[in-house]
Amino acid sequence: MTLHRLTSITMGVPNVDETAAYYAEFGLQPGDAASAGETWFSTRDGGRQLRIVPAPTRRLVDLHVGVDDADDLDRVAGSLSRLGIEVERGPDWISAVEQVTGTRAYLEIAERVAQDTVAPTPYNGPGRTERPGTRAPGILRDGPVAPRKLGHAVLGSTDPQATEAFFTSGLGFKISDRIKGAGTFMRCSTDHHNVLVLGAPVSFLHHTSWQVDDVDEVGRGAHAMLEDHPERHVWGLGRHYGGSNFFWYLKDPAGNFSEYYSDMDCIVDDQLWTPEDLEGARGLFSWGPPPPPSFIHPDDLAAMMTGAHAAS
Ligand SMILES: [Fe+2]
Repeated sequence: MTLHRLTSITMGVPNVDETAAYYAEFGLQPGDAASAGETWFSTRDGGRQLRIVPAPTRRLVDLHVGVDDADDLDRVAGSLSRLGIEVERGPDWISAVEQVTGTRAYLEIAERVAQDTVAPTPYNGPGRTERPGTRAPGILRDGPVAPRKLGHAVLGSTDPQATEAFFTSGLGFKISDRIKGAGTFMRCSTDHHNVLVLGAPVSFLHHTSWQVDDVDEVGRGAHAMLEDHPERHVWGLGRHYGGSNFFWYLKDPAGNFSEYYSDMDCIVDDQLWTPEDLEGARGLFSWGPPPPPSFIHPDDLAAMMTGAHAAS
């Protein structure tokens, strides 16, 4: 695959300081003095992966995708040009704007990240005592949860077909599954999805998702975020069908959802994966509490639509 990872994203919000404080509490590492003037956050394995900048309404300003070499950049620049999309070029990157959402995509030559192998968590099961004589690690851990890497970003788009074409025919993302009539899961790595585009009445950033070690970390992370702020709860704990991952969604002070996830499907050999059209509840989840209506239609959508009309 030409593309190998989602390296970073830039999130635009009206309330940068408040939102930045939230992501620090979420477990991302704020940047040091070297990045003064910019609000950058790092993950344990992925380096600098989230930048927060001011914007009139919450949105995905840009996303960066890692490629191996200049040939990859040439190839993608050619694909974008054939779609009639203007391409900007730097020494080791190219960029183009997805016209519907206004999100700028950067493809940049970047090192592949080989994550350190984390030993499997011992879980006892029928006929299988993996943890003789001890309490579960999930209840003994006492440090704060710190995500390993950025997993994906989900975009609401008023023209999802056009946005999808930008990512697939333009950038070279691959389709992993579709949610029938609602959206498309796409990948630029071996993870089941790095971008999901959903049809929406206004273009906006639906959520970002951050990998943690296991389901206990999903639960511990959400529990810590909710302890003093129950209003942050959106949806969880559950398991998705598309991607199979455990999930718990929380809401940041700008209204974006942030997800802790673990155990996502990995597509290592494209030939061995058959994309499905997920219908009905499967498009949303396999199990968990019923999704709240605000997950599909966030409470501030109407206000964002008004804002979008006012701005245009
Ligand atoms: Fe997600």
